Amino acid sequence: MKFITAALGYFAWKTWVSRFKIMFHRMAGINIGKHVILGKNTLVWSSKNRKECRIGDCTHIECDVIVRGDSYFRIGKGSYIGAGSYIDLTAPVIIEDRVAIGNNLTIMSHDMSYKWRGLGDMIAESVVIKKGTWIGVNVTILAGSTIGEGCIIGAGSIVKGNLEPYGLYVGILAKRIKDLPHGDTYKKEQAR
Ligand SMILES: CC(C)(COP(=O)(O)OP(=O)(O)OC[C@H]1O[C@@H](n2cnc3c(N)ncnc32)[C@H](O)[C@@H]1OP(=O)(O)O)[C@@H](O)C(=O)NCCC(=O)NCCS
Repeated sequence: MKFITAALGYFAWKTWVSRFKIMFHRMAGINIGKHVILGKNTLVWSSKNRKECRIGDCTHIECDVIVRGDSYFRIGKGSYIGAGSYIDLTAPVIIEDRVAIGNNLTIMSHDMSYKWRGLGDMIAESVVIKKGTWIGVNVTILAGSTIGEGCIIGAGSIVKGNLEPYGLYVGILAKRIKDLPHGDTYKKEQAR
């Protein structure tokens, strides 16, 4: 009985922490959909484009995730970001619907040029992750990258540039090692 009470208390506490956090983010002008969960110590914060920051319905951002910078952030519906991830908003970052991301993802939307002589020479380029992509743990995505629809990125990979859709990519820098079934092909295979 004690265990059940403690478990219920824990889940009630977790829900309230998440609700309070969502209320705080909404008051700050961030657009958050229905049934969103934001974990403990997670912060989504654009210092200039808060109204352009959007979190879609049923998206879950785990604990200790920092999304921070001057540009905007959009994450679609039913997506997931694992614990300990860091997303830099020097340039826009767009994550579409049904994207699953493992722990400790790093997205950098800025880079330094070889001529670096101070912050003026910083290069800022957006990052886009298209729908239905699955990203393993400890992946780094560098400025200017686009990951196509339905890709899988192996654990520990570093992504730079454009990745074509429906591919399995692994390594440093991530290379395509397999073609993956397109959503429709996969449904037909399962139906057989
Ligand atoms: C990529 C992955 C999905 C495996 O896919 P798979 O189709 O079973 O691939 P295989 O195990 O057959 O490996 C194929 C090749 O890729 C290599 N490879 C697999 N995963 C790799 C990785 N993460 N980094 C580098 N190389 C990798 C294998 O060594 C193998 O190389 P080889 O052909 O030279 O022997 C898996 O290794 C992985 O990284 N999963 C993510 C796990 C994770 O983060 N889980 C948390 C869930 S959110």
